[in-house]
Amino acid sequence: MVQMKLGTNQEDRKNLLTMAPHTKVKHEILKNYLHPWFNIMAGLARMSGHPIQYIDGFAGPGEYKTGEVGSPIVALDSLLNHQLKDQLLSGDVEYRFVFIEKNKNRVNLLREAIEEQFPARPPCVKIDIVQGDFEDEMLSHLTLSRGRLPPTFAFIDPFGYSLPISIMSEIMHNERCEIMVNYMSGFVNRFAGVDPKNDGKFDALFGTERWRDIRSIDEPAERRKFFLDLYKSQLRSLAGARYIRDFEMKNHHHQVCYDLVYATNNKTGMEQMKEAMWRVDPKGTYSFSDITNPCQATLVQFMEEKYWLPEAAELIGLRFQGQTVSVEDVQWYVVLETPYLFRKACLKKLEEEGRIQSVVKGDMTKRKKWTYPKGSTITFRS
Ligand SMILES: C[S@@+](CC[C@H](N)C(=O)[O-])C[C@H]1O[C@@H](n2cnc3c(N)ncnc32)[C@H](O)[C@@H]1O
Repeated sequence: MVQMKLGTNQEDRKNLLTMAPHTKVKHEILKNYLHPWFNIMAGLARMSGHPIQYIDGFAGPGEYKTGEVGSPIVALDSLLNHQLKDQLLSGDVEYRFVFIEKNKNRVNLLREAIEEQFPARPPCVKIDIVQGDFEDEMLSHLTLSRGRLPPTFAFIDPFGYSLPISIMSEIMHNERCEIMVNYMSGFVNRFAGVDPKNDGKFDALFGTERWRDIRSIDEPAERRKFFLDLYKSQLRSLAGARYIRDFEMKNHHHQVCYDLVYATNNKTGMEQMKEAMWRVDPKGTYSFSDITNPCQATLVQFMEEKYWLPEAAELIGLRFQGQTVSVEDVQWYVVLETPYLFRKACLKKLEEEGRIQSVVKGDMTKRKKWTYPKGSTITFRS
């Protein structure tokens, strides 16, 4: 990962933030996801002629007190130092980066950080650094685009809970637009219902007054689950999000400080995001705690399949028992309806156990043993 040289303006530098281990993990997830995202979206953009847009709604200064880089640099680096950069950046696909940040000093620092890290940028990469309030700027951005955003990934990473769900909804109602929100469970849990002056903010966050039912729930874990479930169900009903996955971040007291909530209407997006999250938590618990050594967490072998593969195979076996389905039916069942990743090794396990009766290739030619090519049809025994 890139590291910052320490800049010069001392007044601005007082506005740098401290990086917690979970922030590093958040950036890892972002990087792991954006890498395939840029590649996939560039392929589609070449056909449609649309630009590709990345929005960071609460961009921050682009660097941390101890020199680590911030999310805007992570995002730019994912494209500008992509292993396929020659291919991605040489065509006629336009990449738009919009960074919104309210604090003027942080905006200055962000400009400096971008210039320092990426002084020479190809003309197809457009960067717009906006000093302003997320809600206002997003509303004017949405108005200017007349409700037709180009395919967009919006990373929304606030400090608090002033985050109207109506903005998420407006973004998500555009084709191929998706969001990753830092939903601040810790703040919500602590402050919802405490001061009636703030009730309106919570109404806007959830897009409903139903969060007020919380007054009857005392147990903190239960309260958090109630709020998070409500938030996700509102993303489904108001923003029309078909697929949602959350990832829990715990602080050094092992308490949940926030949940990263990813929402998309795209199956491949969900598949890639699950892969991105598993790389920082290979046990598939979709959580990270600052108590865990962050370096260790990212160094653990990603493919520790022995822990979860038998259970994923079992779910597949039960779900499709007695049925004939395509390999893709199995793939999307695992990606969209289970916590696991799709691995063909699950099918091999089931076949070894005699739970698969036959596998027929799409073109009806003879298949190689233990392979499950695209378009194959699998018959599971009853
Ligand atoms: C959690 S930090 C962002 C960290 C950054 N995304 C990263 O990962 O490196 C939140 C940032 O949002 C900015 N901010 C706070 N309120 C804002 C608002 N209403 N609109 C835009 N930015 C805001 C803060 O100044 C702060 O820099």
